Amino acid sequence: VNTANELVVGLQDRAYPIHIEYGCLSNIGQDLAMRNIANRYCIISDETVAKLYGDVVLKSIQQNNQHGEILTFPAGEASKNLALFAKLCSELAQRGFDRKDAIIALGGGVTGDLAGFIAASYLRGIAFVQIPTTLLAQVDSSVGGKTGVDIPEGKNLVGAFYQPKAVYIDTSVLNTLPRDEFIGGMAEVIKYGVIRDADFFEYILNNRDGAIGLDKNILGKIIHTCCQIKADVVAEDEQETDLRRILNYGHTIGHAVEAVSKFSIIHGKAVAIGMVAAARIAVRKQLLSKEDCERIYKILNEYNLPTEIPKEFDRNLIKKYLSTDKKIVAGKISYVLPTKVGEVVITSDVDDSIIEEIITG
Ligand SMILES: NC(=O)c1ccc[n+]([C@@H]2O[C@H](COP(=O)([O-])OP(=O)(O)OC[C@H]3O[C@@H](n4cnc5c(N)ncnc54)[C@H](O)[C@@H]3O)[C@@H](O)[C@H]2O)c1
Ligand SMILES: [Zn+2]
Repeated sequence: VNTANELVVGLQDRAYPIHIEYGCLSNIGQDLAMRNIANRYCIISDETVAKLYGDVVLKSIQQNNQHGEILTFPAGEASKNLALFAKLCSELAQRGFDRKDAIIALGGGVTGDLAGFIAASYLRGIAFVQIPTTLLAQVDSSVGGKTGVDIPEGKNLVGAFYQPKAVYIDTSVLNTLPRDEFIGGMAEVIKYGVIRDADFFEYILNNRDGAIGLDKNILGKIIHTCCQIKADVVAEDEQETDLRRILNYGHTIGHAVEAVSKFSIIHGKAVAIGMVAAARIAVRKQLLSKEDCERIYKILNEYNLPTEIPKEFDRNLIKKYLSTDKKIVAGKISYVLPTKVGEVVITSDVDDSIIEEIITG
């Protein structure tokens, strides 16, 4: 494994590397052995990803004289629940996994969140490694230690902060990722540009064809930059008391749109709609120039991401979901609003009349 492609999440004694390299999947066993992370590994993966990449990872572990096995579950958000959490914990116990062993999450955000929560809970916590395979997981969910499951009352309502020992990102796996999933992940990529890095924003805009065409070098640079930003933000505010909240840009209205669509609009597309809405709120509050709002709108358009709440959506229902947002503090909804490309503020000082105006369109 080439260490030139490595970043570090600076969390003192819990610091960990993020390794980004095209084709690194088959070398992970060697790196795990070198880092001496565990005696025995349980790869947890959904059935789709296990079929595609389970054997490569397993072989690489075995070739380095370590023990590995795979546990699978049905692909999709519906699997991120407490019943499956319990079932997989039982399976680990029956197979005799102990404190010195580790869990490897191989898959998208669903796998990372579920397997991470299992790692945080099983025997009160065992070592855990992330191998994210969707663009969303590679730039967002695999870094930062948020783990958990959904309950009928809402998404991600049960979980824990639990950091992995290492994150391995093989960008070649994106070649098999469904197109829509890739485009959805690009919304989160664009989010990083808007909240933290104007040069990166320009880079994404200027390299659209390369990114969409899965150009190795361009994707490598994009994922590296996103992970660096996320690592910096998490190192400064692990438990989301302050700075980390900027990562929720586009997510307040985005989550409401996602819910009203009954999740037929995928997360990234809903976030794209939410980012434009937040930018328009910022213009309305004279925090952002019309030109910068237009640039945010334009970049999302360039990546074929939606920018408007579908006409047929019930605006009252959207408002209802907004008022149940998890991030509400003392009855006030807080919004992450851009002040220019590359910078945001967090405020709960947004009149209902402005929200009404923006979501009505
Ligand atoms: N922990 C966090 O900080 C955080 C952040 C953002 C999102 N999330 C969570 O992430 C989840 C969404 O993650 P997701 O979008 O990755 O969904 P996902 O894990 O369901 O993956 C999407 C689909 O792509 C398939 N897939 C994955 N990798 C593939 C590959 N390389 N080739 C072919 N198919 C592949 C999967 O089988 C699945 O069907 C949500 O539950 C969300 O709450 C967590
Ligand atoms: Zn998101």
